[in-house]
Amino acid sequence: MDKPKAVFYRGAAFRVDPEVYEPAEDTFLLADNLGECLGKRVLELGTGCGLIAILAAKSGAQVVATDVNQAALKCARTNASAHGVTDCIDFRLGSLFEPVTEERFDLVIFNPPYLPTESKEALGSPIDLAWEAGPKGRAVIDPFLGRLPNHLTNGGRALFVQSSLSNVDKTLQKLREHGFNVNIARKKLSFEELFLLRVYRPS
Ligand SMILES: C[S@@+](CC[C@H](N)C(=O)[O-])C[C@H]1O[C@@H](n2cnc3c(N)ncnc32)[C@H](O)[C@@H]1O
Repeated sequence: MDKPKAVFYRGAAFRVDPEVYEPAEDTFLLADNLGECLGKRVLELGTGCGLIAILAAKSGAQVVATDVNQAALKCARTNASAHGVTDCIDFRLGSLFEPVTEERFDLVIFNPPYLPTESKEALGSPIDLAWEAGPKGRAVIDPFLGRLPNHLTNGGRALFVQSSLSNVDKTLQKLREHGFNVNIARKKLSFEELFLLRVYRPS
């Protein structure tokens, strides 16, 4: 039986249970670029162990954090309690924007599954949901982009990561069709390049 691990970000410890995504370069790229959160209403989709939602809460945001993986939500709640921010984070189970149907946010954050996977590779266990993104790597990002405009306030922003393996140009095209402004940062890894997309909705 696997044991929980501890992951550290800027000296703070986060517990990572078995069947929960272990924070990695993509997580830390988001964490390093959270920006201003004080007084903001923040949504983190796919919170995993809760690291990003907790950083946002510690910076003064009121956060809704979701996941499709029950084990992730349980782990994130444990971490929120250890970091003293339980009152600032509302954890909800569900896919994409389902748990926040009518709600809008000043900041939407997502480190989505983005690795292209053949259907025969899809195992369907909770941890696989952290990276399985269909044959083109877009099974989660496309519906996310389609519904993002319904959940972002005017003047709001979104922050998410994507891999060079899953057609970043298509993402940029969709964001421009929505009238969003986009700023990109890149980080080279061994077998892919990570893109951090900072998206702004004009007021
Ligand atoms: C790459 S992990 C990121 C976890 C965490 N945010 C981090 O950065 O370390 C992706 C997370 O999204 C969750 N997820 C996958 N599909 C989802 C969906 N359709 N809606 C919400 N969460 C989803 C996974 O269970 C997993 O916890």
